Amino acid sequence: MRAHEAGAMHGDIGDRGPGWLRPPADVNALVPQLWPRQVERGAGGALTVAGLDVRELAAGYGTPAYVLDEDDLRSRARDFRDAFPDVDVYYAGKAFLCRAVVRMIAEEGLHLDVCSGGELATALSAGMPAERIGFHGNNKSVAELTRALDAGVGRIILDSFTEIDRLTALARERGVRPGVLIRVTVGVEAHTHEFIATAHEDQKFGFSLAGGAAAAAAFTVIDEGVLDLRGLHSHIGSQIFDTSGFEVSARRVLALQAQIRDARGVELPELDLGGGFGIAYTTQDDPSTPAELAKRLRKIVDSECAAENLAVPHLSIEPGRAIVGPAVFTLYEVGTVKDVDGLRTYVSVDGGMSDNIRTALYDASYSATLAGRASTAEPLLARVVGKHCESGDIVVKDEFLPADVRPGDLVAVPGTGAYCRSMASNYNHVPRPPVVAVRDGRARLIVRRETEEDLLALDVG
Ligand SMILES: Cc1ncc(COP(=O)(O)O)c(C=O)c1O
Repeated sequence: MRAHEAGAMHGDIGDRGPGWLRPPADVNALVPQLWPRQVERGAGGALTVAGLDVRELAAGYGTPAYVLDEDDLRSRARDFRDAFPDVDVYYAGKAFLCRAVVRMIAEEGLHLDVCSGGELATALSAGMPAERIGFHGNNKSVAELTRALDAGVGRIILDSFTEIDRLTALARERGVRPGVLIRVTVGVEAHTHEFIATAHEDQKFGFSLAGGAAAAAAFTVIDEGVLDLRGLHSHIGSQIFDTSGFEVSARRVLALQAQIRDARGVELPELDLGGGFGIAYTTQDDPSTPAELAKRLRKIVDSECAAENLAVPHLSIEPGRAIVGPAVFTLYEVGTVKDVDGLRTYVSVDGGMSDNIRTALYDASYSATLAGRASTAEPLLARVVGKHCESGDIVVKDEFLPADVRPGDLVAVPGTGAYCRSMASNYNHVPRPPVVAVRDGRARLIVRRETEEDLLALDVG
């Protein structure tokens, strides 16, 4: 699919799917690493999650619906906490945040990263201890900063000189000394298996290392003495499978740490390495476990600190996708199946780019399976599309579904926990789907479905 500002281009008609996608020996088989840990195909052929049949979920909550395997999310949070015992693990709330998830994260002992007043309000309203919250964002308003200070947020991640001035003034007025980090853009951009290490940075986040802004920001905060500069922060990208980008970024950020020590005699006690750890969306993705990541990151930091003669700082990381992404699948109902001139079969579901914008926005790849029954039909290469008025409204670009897939079937798309509900829209006035958490065979609504009344309630003209 090629995006174009005038709409999706149609140049890929006749595409038979990516080379790696082969017809499966068994079209009903689930690839375990793509699914929440408690999803299986039950004896009757339908998927079950934590023992609950998806047909029951569809009957009770409607479709589309995001289905969260609560124990899966909790166990992924615990895996990070256990693999990084002496590290503060901030769950990146931008991946998906609601009050129930805040409670799960808090109960599993994690910290929480928020990046807007709305995310902060959600975290606080669900009882997240303020000192375990980190507040990000390149354009935090005075109102947001005031709220963060009044709540006693643990770390504010500074992103601009304007923000340093704003926060310094607010902290002075209140006589408080908030803990802050400086977000450093280190010239490393990492996505999937590749990273680019440049000397310069051209992006809206953080303070440039190469241009000297990061050092100047640190000196300003230290010299003013109002904010409590705890350390440096760097976040290099998303869906990363290879830690070599972290190696370059740690080297650069720790060199800055040494520069600050040499110039001001202050050795900053903390270092935040950000998030971005990859997950499996298709069989082509092979993510590392938190234990493997912990080992590699620790080794990188230890050796870079030794090289700079620095004490190893207290570390933090910010995984979002790796905790919530694999814990959720989206359950859709098929509305139409259209064979286009023998070129491609389009399976239209009752949601689309309003509940999962990632395929249209990032050309992301997903997988899918027939969820409400098993089938003995041959595998058929299909494209799962939504119901929106955009030809780029694609949910799963290419997947083998049984050739007898038909209207009324349930289809499930795994790996939709991160950046799907949180980026959902009301495009075409399609109400946003609910989030249903399942645990021990019982379902509970944690975000209700939006209704047409909700949409009309905003429309006050
Ligand atoms: C500063 C920061 N930390 C953490 C994350 C979370 O990334 P991921 O969900 O890929 O782990 C992001 C994502 O954009 C981010 O910008």
